[in-house]
Amino acid sequence: MKNIVILISGSGSNMAAIVETAQRERWSDTLGATVAAVISNKPVAAGLAVANALGVPTQVLDHTGFANREAFDAALAQAIDVHTPALVVLAGFLRILTPAFVNHYAGRLVNIHPSLLPAFPGLNTHQRAIDGGCRFAGATVHRVTAELDHGPILDQAVVPVLPGDTAATLAARVLAQEHRIYPQAVKTLLKA
Ligand code: GRF
Repeated sequence: MKNIVILISGSGSNMAAIVETAQRERWSDTLGATVAAVISNKPVAAGLAVANALGVPTQVLDHTGFANREAFDAALAQAIDVHTPALVVLAGFLRILTPAFVNHYAGRLVNIHPSLLPAFPGLNTHQRAIDGGCRFAGATVHRVTAELDHGPILDQAVVPVLPGDTAATLAARVLAQEHRIYPQAVKTLLKA
């Protein structure tokens, strides 16, 4: 079985979209793949209850309990590697990862970012797109490399920026597309 481990920090809606797609499309039968675990660095992440409700085992690894980034990433890798994952999926995982962690998962680590990369890496992407006068915004699924939000692009979705948009309305429009493209990109990687 190809195990997928999903890392979250918050609401986990992308995680839920992937798990629901995997269940609906019976990935265990069709792809020999399953979401083996959801791991959160935040004990309060709402996505933990969502994952449990979907029947996926969860684990919390609170980064505040570690002395530094290296120590946390080493413990995180240990927790992930229990599942010998074919794919490690970052889904709203709000941590900068050390190069050692990224290298350890080279070719197996993907992320979704709420902008049309290479535009707007980093935070506050929707407000920055509005402030910049962008007519289009979107989301990008990409491989994770040592440079933040810069890995090779696997898929993108484009949405219009509409008159009167706020960061919240634009984020909601983009998020709906994230839920569409992320499960499909994961599926494509599992088939490769
Ligand atoms: C998404 O917009 C994702 O692109 C970004 O953080 C948000 C996470 O949302 N990295 P969710 O936790 O998947 O609901």
